[in-house]
Amino acid sequence: MKTYLVIGATGSIGSKITELLKNNNHEVIKGSSAKHTNENFIHIDLTDNATIGKLIEYNQPLDGIIFASGYEPKQSLKEMSLDHQNKMIQIHVTGPLNTIKVLLKNLKENASIIFISSIAAYKGSYDPMYATVKGAINSLCKTLAVELSKNKIRVNCIAPGLVEDSVVYKGMTQDFREKHINNTLDKKLATVDDCANTINFLLTQEHITGQVIHINGGQYFGA
Ligand SMILES: NC(=O)c1ccc[n+]([C@@H]2O[C@H](COP(=O)([O-])OP(=O)(O)OC[C@H]3O[C@@H](n4cnc5c(N)ncnc54)[C@H](OP(=O)(O)O)[C@@H]3O)[C@@H](O)[C@H]2O)c1
Repeated sequence: MKTYLVIGATGSIGSKITELLKNNNHEVIKGSSAKHTNENFIHIDLTDNATIGKLIEYNQPLDGIIFASGYEPKQSLKEMSLDHQNKMIQIHVTGPLNTIKVLLKNLKENASIIFISSIAAYKGSYDPMYATVKGAINSLCKTLAVELSKNKIRVNCIAPGLVEDSVVYKGMTQDFREKHINNTLDKKLATVDDCANTINFLLTQEHITGQVIHINGGQYFGA
């Protein structure tokens, strides 16, 4: 049995990977920006350095951290506010980076870190900050894979296209959903199962590190 911290465990992808890990008899600790009374939750607000700093007191040894957290694309260039820019950077990049820095002491040898990037890192997004932070996650993944190899910790990333039935999908018009489907080669969207199964694969493959795995039905081939 292994112990994983899933940050964003209440989300579409986070809840599916949590379910899969539990079904495989692993222990899952859920990180949430909300304060839960349930003992399986720890309070981690990626926009708040004080909650991240408090993790110094957290002693649970971990076999991995999965960042399934996120803040969906919301603003085009014309609408772009400073608040939105900061939130995007904090939730996707600086929050995870600082969390890893504090929780490094908890990560066991052979532990694994997973980020969720997006096809937006490669093809762009109507929200320029979203595409930007997803590109940054790819770079963070690769640089941490090198840095943390000294600690025998692997770092990988998945980059899904639009995920069926996710919060972003539900907020989209049918026309937009169909545009995404038609851009794939298999005329299908990614599912939360596709994402959870790929995360689980990356957690178990001891010779894979620094990789970004595309889950997009051939919408983008990778480079
Ligand atoms: N859905 C898609 O189509 C799609 C496609 C490509 C990539 N992705 C990426 O996949 C990841 C997960 O997406 P999703 O669709 O599962 O998202 P989601 O359902 O909106 O869930 C996002 C999670 O992030 C957590 N969160 C929000 N603000 C936070 C904060 N300040 N600190 C810590 N956690 C915070 C929330 O949990 P709490 O409220 O409990 O904190 C929530 O459970 C995101 O990074 C997203 O960009 C999604």
